[in-house]
Amino acid sequence: MVTIKDVAKRAGVSQATASRVAGNYGYVSIAKRRKVLAAIRELGYHPNRIARSMVTKSTQTVGLVVTDIENPFFAQLVRGVEDVTWEYGYTLILANTDEDTQRESAILTTLQEKMVDGLILVPASSRHSAIRAALVEQGIAMVLLDRAVDGLEVDKVLVDNENGACQAVSHLIGLGHKRIGMILDNLDITTNIERLAGYHAALAAHDLPVEKNLVQSCQFTRQSAHTIALEMLRQPDHPTALFTANNFMSIGALRAIQEIGLNIPEDISVVGFDELEWNQLNCPQLTVVAQPVHEMGMVAGERLIARLKGDKTSALEIRLKTKFILRQSCGQVA
Ligand code: RIB
Repeated sequence: MVTIKDVAKRAGVSQATASRVAGNYGYVSIAKRRKVLAAIRELGYHPNRIARSMVTKSTQTVGLVVTDIENPFFAQLVRGVEDVTWEYGYTLILANTDEDTQRESAILTTLQEKMVDGLILVPASSRHSAIRAALVEQGIAMVLLDRAVDGLEVDKVLVDNENGACQAVSHLIGLGHKRIGMILDNLDITTNIERLAGYHAALAAHDLPVEKNLVQSCQFTRQSAHTIALEMLRQPDHPTALFTANNFMSIGALRAIQEIGLNIPEDISVVGFDELEWNQLNCPQLTVVAQPVHEMGMVAGERLIARLKGDKTSALEIRLKTKFILRQSCGQVA
C-alpha cells in the first residue's frame, strides 16, 4: 500500500508538505505542489480516508435511510438528495427500513458507528425512538424527509398530504360519488395519518358519513393492497370510487380491479396518491395527486448541508405543494 511517506520521498518534500497537498489544506508553493501531485499519480496513491477522518473529524459521508428503494418514489427521492450532497463532496450510505422500526434502529446505530457526518431519515414510525433522540442529542445533523416524528426538533421536508388527499376525494364527490373507499398502509406514519385526515375532511365538508368498512389498511406492499382491494371490490355493494394512499396501493388496487373485471371509470372511479411514470401509459390514464419527489430530496439535501455548515437556527418544517393531475380514471357516478 503506497503511503504518504512514499509520496513525500518521491517528490523530495517533507511528509507534512505531501499531506497538505493530498489533503488539500494549508499552504504549499506551486512548484512543490506540482512535484507532490506528480508523485501521487506515478505511485497511484490514495489517501486513507479512515485515517484522514480521525484528523479532520469528518468522514464526508451522509446516511440516507428510506423505506424501500424498489419503490420508484424512494428511488427518485434518493436521486434528489444525492444531486445536492454530491456537489458538496459527500458520499451517501443508503439503507432500507422496510417500515420496520427495529431495522431502522439497527441501521441508525451502524451509521452512528460509521461516524456519518449527517443523516436524512424517512422514519418508519411517527413515534419517539431512543436512537433517533440520541443521535440528535449527540449533535449529528439530521433531517426528516417525507414523514414527521413527534417531538424530534430537527428540520423536516414534507408535502401537504392532507390538502392533496382532500382535493382528490372532493373531486370524486363532485362527480356524485357518495361511497368512496380508501386503501392505505402503515397507519403509524404521518403521510397516511394526514392523507386519511384529508379523506375525512372531504366527506365532512359534503356532509357524507364515514363508513368504517370502506377504509382499509394493509402492509406496505403491492400484494397486500391487491388482497385488500379484492375483498373490498368483490362485495355486491362495493364503493363506486376508490382513493389509494400511495403508488404501491394504486398498483395493488388496479390489479384487483382488472382481476375482478370492473371497468374504469364506468364501474369504479380511481384517484391515486403518487405519480408513476406508467400512469400515462395506462388505459385509462390514472388521475393522481403528484408529489414533487425530486425537489423534496433536493430540499432535504440542502437543509442537511446548511446544518453541516453550522446553521444553528431553530428546526424548520418545509411543506411542499402536491399537484392534482386530472386524467381519465374518474367518471360521474352510475
Ligand atoms: O409511495 C411512497 C409514498 O407513500 C410516500 O409518501 C410514503 O410516505 C408513503 O406514504
